[in-house]
This record gives sequence, C-alpha cells and structure tokens, in this order.
Amino acid sequence: MIESASLTTSTQDMARQLRMQSQGAMSLNIAYVGIVSNLFESLHALKEGTVEALAKESEMDTLYVRRWAEAAFAFGYLDVTNDVYRLTPLGDLMRPTHPETQFNIPVGSILSTHMADRAAELMVTGERPGEKVLAERKNILPWFGAMLEASFSGVFEKEIYPAIKIFGEVDRRGGTVVDLGCGNGWYLRSLAHRCHNIRGIGWDGFDENIRRAKDLARKEGLESRLSFHLGDIKAFSHARPADIIAMNRALHHVWDQKESVFEILKNHLAPGGAVLIWEPAWPQSIQELKEPRRRPLAVQNLGEHVQGNHLLRPEEIASAFHSVGMKSEIVLFAEGAEAVIIGYLPG
Ligand SMILES: C[S@@+](CC[C@H](N)C(=O)[O-])C[C@H]1O[C@@H](n2cnc3c(N)ncnc32)[C@H](O)[C@@H]1O
Repeated sequence: MIESASLTTSTQDMARQLRMQSQGAMSLNIAYVGIVSNLFESLHALKEGTVEALAKESEMDTLYVRRWAEAAFAFGYLDVTNDVYRLTPLGDLMRPTHPETQFNIPVGSILSTHMADRAAELMVTGERPGEKVLAERKNILPWFGAMLEASFSGVFEKEIYPAIKIFGEVDRRGGTVVDLGCGNGWYLRSLAHRCHNIRGIGWDGFDENIRRAKDLARKEGLESRLSFHLGDIKAFSHARPADIIAMNRALHHVWDQKESVFEILKNHLAPGGAVLIWEPAWPQSIQELKEPRRRPLAVQNLGEHVQGNHLLRPEEIASAFHSVGMKSEIVLFAEGAEAVIIGYLPG
C-alpha cells in the first residue's frame, strides 16, 4: 500500500515536471514566431500599440498578430492595457538588435526541434543527408550566423579572449589572423575591435555567409583590416603565412579529411604562430553529459549525425596536431562544455 502511494506521487511529480517542460517549449515557440516575423522589433519601434498598429508596422496579418499577441502576453513577453500592447523586459530581450539579445535561444530551440524530427524520420533507414538539412527551414537560415554570434561571442569575450595570450602578442606585431569556416565573421570583428593592429582573413564555403561578413565588417568600419573570401577549407591557400589560424565550430565539418586539413594548418602557420581550434568538448564519459552545461551537446550530436558529422573529444584534436608534428594544449571553457585546442610548431 505504502509502495503504491509513493509510486503514484512520483508519477505525479514526473507528470508535473513534463507539463512544465512542455510550457517551456510553448514559450520558446511563441518567442520564435515574434522573432522571425519581426514582431518584437516592430513593437519596440512603436513603443506601444494595438494589434492593428503592430500588424501594420510589421506588415503581418492582423488576425494572426492578434492570436500571437495573446499568447505572447500569456507567456510574459508582452503587457497589455486597454488593448494596447508593449514589450516586457523579457520581450525586449527577444529583439535580435538588443545589445544583450537572447533571441538565439528560441531560434536554436526550433532548429533543435527540426533536427530531432529529421532524426526521427531518418532513424529507420540510417540515411545521413548532410548539412543541407540545416537549410530546410527557410525562416531559420537567415538567422544562422547571428544566432551563433549571440550564442558564443559572450564566451569568447569573457573567457577565451582574456585567457589566450597569443592574441595580444600578434596584435603587438601587427600580425594576421585567418578564420576558416568564419560564418558571419563575428570572431574576426570581435578581435579587430580589441586588437587594433591585427588584420583578418575570413574563409567560408557558403556565399551568403561571406556576403553578410563583408556587410557587417563594412558597417562596423573594419573593411580595411578584414577581408572575407568564398572557398573550401580543404582547399585553403594563402601566399603569406598567418600568425593565428582559427577554426571555430568548423573542424567537425571537415573531420573526415583531417589529415589534409592539419597539413594545410601547419603549412600556413608563421614561425611562432598558433592554430586555435574551438569546438564543443565531447566528454570522455557519458556520465558527464548529465551536467546541465553539457546536456545540449548530446542533442547537438544527434543533429550532427543527421548532417554526417560528429562532435569531437579535445584529445582527438590534440592527437591530430601531434600526427603532423605540432605540439598542442587543451584549454576548457564554459564549465567544460567548450574547448580551445592550441596547436603550435615546436621551437
Ligand atoms: C557551425 S558554423 C561556425 C561558423 C563560425 N565559425 C562561428 O563560430 O560562428 C560552421 C561554418 O563552417 C562553414 N563550413 C563548413 N564546411 C566548410 C568547408 N568545407 N569549407 C568552408 N567552409 C565550411 C559553414 O559554412 C559554416 O559557416
């Protein structure tokens, strides 16, 4: 009797927990609609407004906007008085142009749902269609670069940049930083704002990324120091050796060609320079995946599987450096969820 009572309680607890998680997902879904339909930004521009005014400002359908506004109110993104809506502080953080924006969280969550659904479909056959799966959601694709920037520029600025001494050394000698798989170029822009003598070269295989990277560099007045080029990492070539070659979340995309990629890295490095590989740190043991900061890695790795990739252990990357005669050092950040593996030529 006692046993069945405690079983019932624990089922109720689990059901309550699941309902709360379900509401968390609903809240992110509603935020996502407001982000990609420009509703948060439009309401910010208006300061406050009726559904009709918001629909006009955002150029969206009035009836859809009404249903969205009710749900956004229910989940705390909007306040309302006499049918006039305004953003709450939480709603304000959903604006992609907010200096401390958190828009990446709902957009990342919907991307994760998309990848989960694709994994569920593909599990039957084992097919792995590749990176094109990322581009299947037309509402998400334009946000990809900005989402990575919002997710990782904070870790870079607060933890990685202060810990990696070579940035300062290369800045003092006016050196060159190459970023392979540069996305929207945020890493080079962030570095160029901190290191005023550095020159940067970004390289990416997706032309939309290069277009955006050039555009953003121009808007921030950095176009004379940063250049961006379309090209495959596996075919990277540059006449002058670089002082730093960075690859951020890009190595796992080309890991199947690691032998030639690591030769390219070594052959393009100037004496005294360093290769900085930043990757999510796949842990040594499955137990570590339970840590809250590392849990998302497990979900990401399911999505990586769909794309034909997998996340890497920092030690595997260190060993790839050693196989081309380079030394390496592993530095962990973000409570162990992120790793920078520094490779350099023996002196
Ligand atoms: C996860 S994103 C990371 C982007 C950026 N480094 C960042 O941290 O925001 C991986 C990037 O690598 C690029 N990429 C993947 N494989 C590539 C290849 N073979 N050649 C060039 N770029 C590639 C993609 O276009 C994408 O921009």
